[in-house]
Amino acid sequence: MAHSMGIVMVLSLLALAPLCFCGKTSGGGYLYPQFYDHSCPKAQEIVKYVVAKAVAEDPRMGASLLRLHFHDCFVKGCDASILLDSSKSIISEKRAIPNRNSARGFEVIDEIKHALEKECPQTVSCADIMALAARDSTVLTGGPNWKVPLGRRDSIGASVSGSNNDIPAPNNTFQTILTKFKRQGLDIVDLVALSGSHTIGNARCTSFRQRLYNQSGNGQPDYTLDQSYAAHLRTRCPKSGGDQNLFFLDYVSPVKFDNSYFKNLMAYKGLLSSDQILFTNNAISRELVKKYAYNQELFFEQFAKSMIKMGNISPLTGYKGEIRKNCRKVNAY
Ligand code: HEM
Ligand SMILES: *[C@@H]1O[C@H](CO)[C@@H](O)[C@H](O)[C@H]1NC(C)=O
Ligand SMILES: *[C@@H]1O[C@H](CO)[C@@H](O)[C@H](O)[C@H]1NC(C)=O
Repeated sequence: MAHSMGIVMVLSLLALAPLCFCGKTSGGGYLYPQFYDHSCPKAQEIVKYVVAKAVAEDPRMGASLLRLHFHDCFVKGCDASILLDSSKSIISEKRAIPNRNSARGFEVIDEIKHALEKECPQTVSCADIMALAARDSTVLTGGPNWKVPLGRRDSIGASVSGSNNDIPAPNNTFQTILTKFKRQGLDIVDLVALSGSHTIGNARCTSFRQRLYNQSGNGQPDYTLDQSYAAHLRTRCPKSGGDQNLFFLDYVSPVKFDNSYFKNLMAYKGLLSSDQILFTNNAISRELVKKYAYNQELFFEQFAKSMIKMGNISPLTGYKGEIRKNCRKVNAY
């Protein structure tokens, strides 16, 4: 009986294998959604609970947690390097240009980690917490659901130069941004789908001011920005001052994860230059923008796939890295 059960198990595992989105990792190991099923069965429930509480208190928090995972994965892989504070041996990525006065949600990650350390000490990595929090944030704001491959471990270092060089800037050209994605193993489809994250969250005046006043160094605004929308933006984003003033990335439904971001791009009302160029600078990405604007289902499906792909960027597995006790610092030995 036990023997035939074993055979059934092996057969069903083989049958399911092609459906697994498990990513091969640099540690030679694989990430898979059931990683904590035995070592910390309540892990996913605990993450979801804390994220839901945080988003209920601050609707923007979902966006901030989603972005944190992106800024982590693009620098040395999804290894929680972004969470480390500065110390004797570490210069924090929080100081880097894309993160300074901008990245947020660190206290929520701390709260999740605290709860998980109580439930199952030194078991769930900070990198996995971020991947789960990004998924939960997407679902809680109305977006698609997916199973998150797990088993990442945490870095023992950070890279400010990596943050400055590898995370795309809002005024980068289309080619520069695509090149930065390709370096991570992501393609133009991933670029357009993942940019759809900008259907939630905010950006500061300083992230798009150039478009309003002097886009190409000739004292002219960016004419691929709807000019009445631009005039409206100028009222709270003056030529100088107000750098930190906040604006919705998707003015139509700023806290709802939907496809209105893509509709905005078709109306020349993308907030960032990096958003609008997906529609204006490349024929392939333009078609993808249209496709997702017309069909939210297709956007949701691709978004989930691309998030899994992004989450698989060179994780630490096996004996590489560590499971931090406190996400802000490396363990002391
Ligand atoms: C394609 C290249 C990208 C560029 C140039 C870019 C740039 C930016 C900038 C400049 C901001 C506003 C920051 C501020 O002013 O404080 C922002 C916000 C945001 N980004 Fe991106 N981003 C890109 C891709 C992504 C990706 C791939 C994701 C997630 C998978 C993402 C998720 C977000 C979210 C959710 C926010 C709002 C955060 C908040 O409200 O706290 N972005 N992005
Ligand atoms: C992009 O923005 C940065 C920071 O504001 C600025 O230093 C740089 O000159 C801009 N690059 C281009 C090509 O406009
Ligand atoms: C626009 O930018 C260029 C180069 O960055 C600068 O030389 C010029 O003075 C600026 N023009 C205005 C009107 O601010």
